[in-house]
Amino acid sequence: MKEALQIALDGPAGAGKSTIAKSLAKQLGYVYIDTGAIYRAVTYRALNEGINLEDGPALSKMIENMSIRLVPSDQGQRVFDGDEEVTDVIRSSEVTNNVSFVARQPEVRDALMDLQRDLAKHGGVVMDGRDIGTHVLPNADLKVFMTASVEERARRRHEENVSKGIPSDYEKLKEEIALRDKRDSEREVAPLRQAEDAHYLDTTTLSIDGVVLAIERLIEEVKA
Ligand code: DC
Repeated sequence: MKEALQIALDGPAGAGKSTIAKSLAKQLGYVYIDTGAIYRAVTYRALNEGINLEDGPALSKMIENMSIRLVPSDQGQRVFDGDEEVTDVIRSSEVTNNVSFVARQPEVRDALMDLQRDLAKHGGVVMDGRDIGTHVLPNADLKVFMTASVEERARRRHEENVSKGIPSDYEKLKEEIALRDKRDSEREVAPLRQAEDAHYLDTTTLSIDGVVLAIERLIEEVKA
């Protein structure tokens, strides 16, 4: 029986990947790795340093001087850039609305590849992102491509914001999600797409428990 699997969970913004990945990782005793946080940390630093977000070589140089660490904790994954904790600041709307520009620079993707592979090398990981199954971990034991309609994804994000007391506008969220989908899917390097050997999971009408159950069944098949 195979243990310490590498599980790749890809899909568009707001499909529920992080919720599902966290829950799965907890149940399996695995580490949850949110790769979007890495792109966010780079974007945050570039915004602070006033670096042009479309200047791949300058960004790649900046990344050489960064030490990004993802640290699992009971409260979820904490993110550090050197000694500075950036876990919360990388979720700001300024970072959210600018991260796709950074993520589409080939030099940035190259510079972040080894870090991501390194985090997964011992297995026992649920890694969530956009290109994990297609590029980062092409030999992952299980690949799932999760999606949901734009309306449902905006609704979920809206509810999450409201429950956290964050001001939220459903229509605006819908527009922002659609725009991010477009940028992430149409970029030339490692665009968001389903790996050929990934399982497609549309979660529009599924509950969180329903999705977790569906993926657990897939895991059992891989382990058997
Ligand atoms: O999952 P997220 O919303 O935190 O991701 C932030 C951005 O990073 C998103 O616009 C796409 C990009 N991203 C990526 O290009 N590749 C990944 N593996 C993860 C995220």
